Amino acid sequence: MPLNRLKPIWALMPAWLAVALLGCKASAPSGIENKVVQETKELVIGGKDIQNPVPDNEASRNAGAEHFQHHCQICHGLDGQNTGVPFADKMSPPVANLAMDDIQKYTDGQLKWIIENGIRMTGMPSWKGILDENEMWNIVRYIRHLPAKGSLGAPAIFKESEEQHSESHAGHTHKAAGHTHK
Ligand code: HEC
Repeated sequence: MPLNRLKPIWALMPAWLAVALLGCKASAPSGIENKVVQETKELVIGGKDIQNPVPDNEASRNAGAEHFQHHCQICHGLDGQNTGVPFADKMSPPVANLAMDDIQKYTDGQLKWIIENGIRMTGMPSWKGILDENEMWNIVRYIRHLPAKGSLGAPAIFKESEEQHSESHAGHTHKAAGHTHK
C-alpha cells in the first residue's frame, strides 16, 4: 500500500501543515488524516480544567436538551447520534456522534469550549454570541446523558422531506406501471 510508505512523512509533518492540506481536499479524510486531525484538535481545544458551574440534575439536562433540539439537531439529530440526518456522514469530516468515546472522553470544560468556539475547517459552528454561558453548560450536561440512539426519532424537518420524497416516488411508480384510479 503506497499510503503505508507515506506514513512516516505524515508523522514528521507539523500538524498545522497536515490540517492546511486537508482543507484543500474535497474527499473524505483517510484514517491517517483523521488521526492527524484528532491529535491537532487535542492540542487546540482549550478549557480542559474548567469545571461545569451548573448542577448535574434533571432541570439542567432538560434545559440542555431543549437548546440542543433548537440549535444542534439539524446536524446531530435529536439524540446527538445523527439519527435521521441524511447528510451526517456526507460532511467532511462527518458529523460527530456525540455518544462515542472520542467525544465523551473530553472534559466538560473542553466540550463547552468546542460549543463556544466550534471546530475550524469542519462544519461545526461556533455558538459564541448565540448561546449564553449557562445554555452551553446545560447542553454539556445533556451530552453526558444522551438518550438511546434512535429513541427520539428523526428531526421533523427531515421526516417531512422523506415523506414527500416517497409520495412523489410512489406517484411515479403508479404512472410508470400504467395504473389508473377512479
Ligand atoms: C451545521 C452542522 C452542525 C451543527 C448545527 C452543530 N454541529 Fe457539532 N459538529 C458538526 C460536525 C461536522 C462535527 C465534526 C467536527 C470534527 O470532526 O471535528 C461536529 C462535532 C461536534 C462535537 C465534537 C467535536 C470533536 O472534537 O469531534 C461536539 C461536542 C459538537 N459538535 C457539539 C455540538 C452542539 C452542542 C451543537 C449545538 C449547539 C452543534 N454541535 C451543532 C456539525 C454541526
